[in-house]
Amino acid sequence: MNYVDLRSDTVTKPSKEMRRAMAEAVVGDDVFGDDPTVNRLQDMIAEMLGKEAALYVPSGSMGNAICLKAQTVPGNEVICDRFAHIVNYEVGNVAVFSGLQTNMIDGLNGAITREQVGPLLKTESLHTPGTTLIEIENTHNRAGGAIFPFDEMQKLRRLADEFEIKVHLDGARLWNAHVATGIPLADYAKCADSVSVCFSKGLGAPIGSCIAGSRDFIENGRRVRKMLGGGMRQVGLLAAAAIYAIENNIARLADDHANARFLAEELSKIDSVIIDLDTVQTNIVIFDISRTNMTAPELCEKWKELGTLSLPISDSRIRIVTHLDVTSEQCEEAMVAFRKVVGA
Ligand SMILES: Cc1ncc(COP(=O)(O)O)c(C=O)c1O
Repeated sequence: MNYVDLRSDTVTKPSKEMRRAMAEAVVGDDVFGDDPTVNRLQDMIAEMLGKEAALYVPSGSMGNAICLKAQTVPGNEVICDRFAHIVNYEVGNVAVFSGLQTNMIDGLNGAITREQVGPLLKTESLHTPGTTLIEIENTHNRAGGAIFPFDEMQKLRRLADEFEIKVHLDGARLWNAHVATGIPLADYAKCADSVSVCFSKGLGAPIGSCIAGSRDFIENGRRVRKMLGGGMRQVGLLAAAAIYAIENNIARLADDHANARFLAEELSKIDSVIIDLDTVQTNIVIFDISRTNMTAPELCEKWKELGTLSLPISDSRIRIVTHLDVTSEQCEEAMVAFRKVVGA
């Protein structure tokens, strides 16, 4: 069956034009720093994010891991939202690889505030670990693609400066925040010492992320990447897909946001669905189906039988995500099928 695949924006397949760009990429050995396509991508990202340097890495998770490891020492504390990707979906990497203690707090739609973080900051002492990093995520995956308010990011930046600690921005979907708010990527990035951005989500490239920051941080990050086995050779083949994605697929994220809005509004008209429309700000929609007579996995299975793939994220909650491989017509089809499933 030709499914309408709403499980994630990571399911996109490279288009013919993207594949052509990959096939034609000029390559070299990137561990020697010799791959011109990787170097071009890194320069583009550093420029877009207003940072001194950038580094291509295989995945968003590796990007986050490198950023945390390169800016901390084992035994430090990192403060982040309770539902941050780094603590929920990266297999304990923060503890295992970087040896960090996490202090997780309840953000509002994933956004933690200066007022919450300030009192928790610890200086290293005989008894306490030192807090050396604040981690924020924009947009926030588990909070349904909610945008981290820019003024709150700026306040956290000022707090970090006062206490001389670092800020890491998991910007896997920073593109979506940028398109939805019009705030320049570099303004967002200014709030952080290190930023990771993904090409394999809404931008539609098959693989890869970049991290960006100061030249010293990136040099340190390059060693950490090598330690993790993330030093790759003729990887310009993949970097070419990322360059294609940056040049062609950023502005169109607005279409994904409109499709997500359509799905959310249609879902909100169904009595047995509970959804907070305020959290639907970009391309992710999370809703509760506990008022139906099905669990989320059962409902997703029935929806699948009618041609739509979705993701149960708990017994009662489902996540759907729009992306460049789903059209507005397919979103309409998905809603027709959903109404049949719940008998609405
Ligand atoms: C916010 C966020 N950060 C990081 C990642 C990790 O990216 P990857 O799957 O490329 O490791 C994801 C993946 O969905 C994500 O949503």
